[in-house]
Amino acid sequence: MTGAQPDPLDAADPVVDEAVATAAQAASAAGVSINDVHGHDRARQVSELFDRVWGRSPDAGPLFAVEVLTALAKAGGQVTLAESDGEPVGATAGLLGREHATGRLFVHSHVTGVLPELGGRGIGRALKWHQRAWSLTRGFDQVRWTFDPLVRRNAVLNLLVLGAQPAGYERDVYGRLDDARNVRLPTDRLHLEWDLRSPRVRAAASGRNAAPDIDGLRRAGAEVWVSVGDHGQPVVTPTRAGRRLVQVPPDIESIRRTDQSTAADWAQAVRDTLGAALEAGQRISGITRDGWYVLADPAGVTELADA
Ligand SMILES: CC(C)(COP(=O)(O)OP(=O)(O)OC[C@H]1O[C@@H](n2cnc3c(N)ncnc32)[C@H](O)[C@@H]1OP(=O)(O)O)[C@@H](O)C(=O)NCCC(=O)NCCS
Repeated sequence: MTGAQPDPLDAADPVVDEAVATAAQAASAAGVSINDVHGHDRARQVSELFDRVWGRSPDAGPLFAVEVLTALAKAGGQVTLAESDGEPVGATAGLLGREHATGRLFVHSHVTGVLPELGGRGIGRALKWHQRAWSLTRGFDQVRWTFDPLVRRNAVLNLLVLGAQPAGYERDVYGRLDDARNVRLPTDRLHLEWDLRSPRVRAAASGRNAAPDIDGLRRAGAEVWVSVGDHGQPVVTPTRAGRRLVQVPPDIESIRRTDQSTAADWAQAVRDTLGAALEAGQRISGITRDGWYVLADPAGVTELADA
């Protein structure tokens, strides 16, 4: 959608029908019910859930204050809670966005969180497929968000499972955050665009998105730029190849909790490689489940995506 107001729900739109069905299946598979939240009592459940997920220190204040979530829902934004047996287990908060230069409207997904003890059961993907249906039924065909490129789990979920596209790299977006996940390191982020009607996202929704074939790419000349060393440290090997591979560690969040020096080395290594390449106009064409980002010149991206 561009500058126009959201269209009313078009029941005859097959992509919307498909998105609603995908969302229902994902929620059922994860064993959750997912509903929009209105009013301060329900907003409080969302706010408290986010603070548990992010391990916010009391001094840092809430990630999302109850009154802000209440206002966000009143203003037409997305405040959604996933519950299992009536207990909150995950949530999403998204703002309505407008790119003023072009008039393009989109949903800006600010946070999605799932209780750590319930991670890996499909609740996160269910929240995101719900968000796709939520957005499409309100006339928005793009969702944007930022994520930490060092968090392999999120990269795989966003790029591979959901089919979102990296659209740029930004340094230290939120400044140094005092929570258990960011531990006051620079908050470099990848910007994502999730084009909800695109063939890539429709393929992802039906589980047909394939990870890049790293062995095939290496045979075709791709070179390793960053890999995970024997002790979990970043190993940077200079390369000028047209296609370069940058691996991120399996669990940067635990490295941040236990080894701040290695965590800082990772932040620098990824900024100097992945970040610098994106700032110079290269693109990420995909990621594998074992954390290899594939970087290429824009001309090589289609070829890589098909590799
Ligand atoms: C990101 C988050 C919402 C995901 O929720 P979740 O319920 O664990 O996610 P799901 O189970 O739906 O999917 C996770 C996917 O990542 C994959 N994954 C998990 N850990 C992984 C790892 N270390 N490496 C590679 N892939 C991994 C899973 O295999 C799964 O994909 P699959 O189902 O196709 O196998 C949750 O982990 C969370 O709240 N994290 C903390 C907050 C955060 O970072 N939020 C996102 C930014 S706002």
